[in-house]
This record gives sequence, C-alpha cells and structure tokens, in this order.
Amino acid sequence: MSRDLLGRALYDYVETPVFEHTELFARGVGESTDVVQKEMFTFEDKAGRSLTLRPEGTAAICRSYIEHGMHKRAQPVKVWYWGPFFRHEAPQAGRFRQFAQVGAEVLGSDEPTVDAELILLLSQLLEQSDCQEVRLRLSSLGTAETRRAYTAELRDWLREHEADLSESVRARLELNPLRAFDSDDPQTQAIMAEAPKLLDRLADEDAAHFAEVRSLLDDVGLEYEVDPGLVRGLDYYTRTVFEFESGVLGAQAALGGGGRYDGLVEVLGGPPTPGVGWAAGIERMLLATRQGTSRESAGRVFVAVAKPERRLEAFDMVLGLRDNEIPAELDEAGRSLKGQLKQADRLDALWTVILGEETELRDMRTGDQRAVEGFEGLLEAVRSE
Ligand code: HAM
Repeated sequence: MSRDLLGRALYDYVETPVFEHTELFARGVGESTDVVQKEMFTFEDKAGRSLTLRPEGTAAICRSYIEHGMHKRAQPVKVWYWGPFFRHEAPQAGRFRQFAQVGAEVLGSDEPTVDAELILLLSQLLEQSDCQEVRLRLSSLGTAETRRAYTAELRDWLREHEADLSESVRARLELNPLRAFDSDDPQTQAIMAEAPKLLDRLADEDAAHFAEVRSLLDDVGLEYEVDPGLVRGLDYYTRTVFEFESGVLGAQAALGGGGRYDGLVEVLGGPPTPGVGWAAGIERMLLATRQGTSRESAGRVFVAVAKPERRLEAFDMVLGLRDNEIPAELDEAGRSLKGQLKQADRLDALWTVILGEETELRDMRTGDQRAVEGFEGLLEAVRSE
C-alpha cells in the first residue's frame, strides 16, 4: 500500500542501516530529548566505537543525503522507508521496544506544497489502511531562533507558576520546558492553557508559510485542528509540525507525525537544506483498524475433537475453512475437550466446531450450541454473521 501510494507521488524507496554512530542521533535528534536521554539502545563495537540501534529514521536519511552528495541532484529529493526501530521505553499497549515505522522525507524544498503533499499522503495511507477515528493536529514552531527566544519566555513564565506544575514538568523546566504542553496532569494542563503560545510569536515569513500550508489543506478539504500546544518529542523541528491520532488507541494515540526540519542537514555537517517528513507506527496503525479493535471481525473458527477417530476430519475441515478464507485452527497439544474450548477462547475464536458423536457448532459469545449438517452447512453458519 505504501509502495503504491508513495511510488505514485514519485518517492524512491531507501534503506539505511539498523544502527548508526551514537553521535548522529545525539546531534540530530537532540541531547535534551527523551529519545536521546533515556531511550536509546547504545553499545560499543569491538573497536570501541559507540553505536546505537536507530530510534527514528530522519537523522539517518539526512546523513545519507550528505554522504551521497544528494544535494547535487535535482531538488527536491523525495524518499520513503520502512523497517524496524528501537526505543528503550516502558512497554505498554501500543508502545514497544522494537516497532516498525513507514516514513517519508523530502529534502531540498521549503515550498508549503511539500508540507501539504506529505500531510495528505499520510492521511491517505491511514485511510486506506482502514484506521478508525483519525484526527489531525497541526501547528508551526517557526525558526530555531524564534523557538529559542520563545523557550526562554516560556521558561520564565513557568517559573512564575512553578508551584502549581506537576513534578515531572518541574524536573524538565530547564532542559525542555515545551514538554509542559504534553503533560497529562489536569492542573498543569489548566495552567498551560493560559501559557504564551509559540504560534503567536512566529516571524512574518513563518506565519505566511503556515497560512499557505493551511490553505492548501483547506483547498482539498482535509480537516485538521490547529493546536498551539502540539509538541513533538524530537528537537529538530522548525515551522510545520503535525500529528495524526486515533480515538480508538487509548494512551498511545499517535499513529504518526512529523514536520519540517530546515536546519537538520546543516547541523549534521551538510549544506543548508530544508527538509520535511513524517513517520507512522505500523503496529499502532494495525491496532487502530476495525480488525485490530474488534474480535467479531476476525470470524475465527476453532475445530475441537471430542472423539479421537475424528481427528483427520478435523485437519481436513481446518484446511477447507482456510481455503474459504475463514481463519481456522485445531488443537495441536493433545488437550481434553474442556482444554480445547479454553484454547478456542484464548485464540479469540468466534465459533468452535465440536466433532463428537455428531458435529456441533458452539457460538463462543453466547455459549449456544447446535448441530450442523456437512461442510456446506458449517460454511453457511459461520458466514451468517
Ligand atoms: P515519532 O513521532 O517519534 O516521529 O514516531 C512516529 C511514530 O512511530 C509514532 O507516531 C508512533 O506511531 C510510532 N512509534 C514511536 N515510538 C513507538 C514505540 N515505542 N512503539 C510503537 N510505536 C512507536 C519520528 O520518529 C520522526 N522521525 C518522524 C519524522 C520524519 N519527522 C520528520 N520526518
């Protein structure tokens, strides 16, 4: 799906190594970020060099742009990637230490059309992937200088309200005050609603850029919410930032996000080059689909054997169901009938066929059980919902 969508927009597929020099992420992603401070899997190789399993893809794409002299090609350079990424976070629903991302990056253009194109591509990808209750938040961070001046202003403002802020926000006040907007503490949230906003401090050029991105999105009818408190967890962003969330995901709601990083190539030793891109988490996309959220749609059938001489029949039945595109499984651990029903439940089966004196079909939601006639009768029954 990504290949079709991004290929049609003339993005080239690229792969970068799974690990890089630690220095790349420390400089690229930013020393003050959670990713660099706490979440990197870092190790030494035999030559004593510090390497890190990649926590994200953008810094490596910029490294490769510089190393392969891509600034000499016709600009902009558009690429997409897919693969495993690693962050040492506390695992929970939707948050893993190894996860897969699909991402897209455009280097060498500061045109607002590129920002809009990328946002639209991610929106289309999420729609085609059947992600549910998707919403888009959008903001602009301006240039690095604007952000620096604003960060100082915000820090002073937060100091005045320090007593009412949550402990974790106070702890990050010096290093990364912007993260205060991300707090889930209600009292901190109430305070942050009153805080000065970066969006009100943008230089004219940046405000005009943001207005243009918005008008392009309005033009194609893509809905979004301007959220001046949108804080991305990585330091390289300038100007446009955005995040897609799903209402069905719970605490880890972000499906994917990104933004502009106009200074990153230069920070990494390349020529001044604007850049913009996004990445989306594949596992979260799957969790946000209808299939990921509902047990019914799986429509699974478990075939339980109550009379051992019917085992071959069970094997054939499972293959037959699968041929008819119905997910099916049988017991492969010598369980009793009770154990098989328990296993069917663990596998989230909707139906269990019980091959005993007769052939019965059990509805796993209600426990109702009735006889079925022949394979066709079984197919009809399990397809009836
Ligand atoms: P990010 O927001 O850190 O951005 O990650 C993008 C997406 O990866 C998240 O929205 C989420 O779906 C998924 N993700 C992140 N961490 C985890 C995790 N521990 N477990 C499961 N999924 C996770 C970036 O990585 C930027 N490089 C995006 C970008 C590209 N910005 C500009 N270009």
